[in-house]
Amino acid sequence: MKILSAEFVTSAAAGGRADGIPADRLAHIAFAGRSNVGKSTLLNALARRKIARTSAAPGKTRLANIYRLNVEGGPGGPGTWGVYFVDLPGYGYARGGGDSAAELAAVAKAYFEAGSGSERTNRATLLLIDSRHPGLESDTQAARWLDAFGGGRQVVATKIDKLSRSERVRNLKELERIFGCAPLPVSAAGGEGLDELWRLIARVARDQRP
Ligand code: GTP
Ligand code: MG
Repeated sequence: MKILSAEFVTSAAAGGRADGIPADRLAHIAFAGRSNVGKSTLLNALARRKIARTSAAPGKTRLANIYRLNVEGGPGGPGTWGVYFVDLPGYGYARGGGDSAAELAAVAKAYFEAGSGSERTNRATLLLIDSRHPGLESDTQAARWLDAFGGGRQVVATKIDKLSRSERVRNLKELERIFGCAPLPVSAAGGEGLDELWRLIARVARDQRP
């Protein structure tokens, strides 16, 4: 698989209108999760170049940033195909806790609503969860909020390189129990799980070609 290009397309601000969101037939893969969970880093690892800004300080990405990738080959066979990656702002950053579902809603509602009720776009949401911290209230709230939109979510367990073998087994099991589906363990640092994630992305993105 070759990534021919990966480019920034547009930003959608919190509470803003959905005007600039691309409305062609390409699939959208949204990256959702707590601030600092590793959304932008994972996006860059998949794109194999640094297109999204990352930071050790949480709350870096305050806009939904949309990128377009053009890919040749890969899962699903030969041919050129495209997909949008959507780096959603992280939730759970506001001091004093707060309602993470409301926070996610504030920034992501326009984005999610822009595609609902229309057949134009295949989409999937990757709900990123720090594999060291399964079961945080903010993450279960966000999962419930996403489920209300339908369209499917895949739980991705990030920073798996930081866990010992026994923690890994325990935490992945815990995530499956809480979210009702097997999480996909990934490490943007070590590369684990990236091929499997590309397979998932290709399934969503390449299914709907006319
Ligand atoms: P916001 O934009 O604030 O919502 O954060 P984000 O989810 O985009 O997180 P970001 O990608 O900026 O990563 C946060 C920190 O986690 C950075 O210091 C990354 O280097 C680190 N990080 C991300 N992925 C991994 C990983 O797979 N392994 C390890 N060890 N560190 C990671
Ligand atoms: Mg980010």
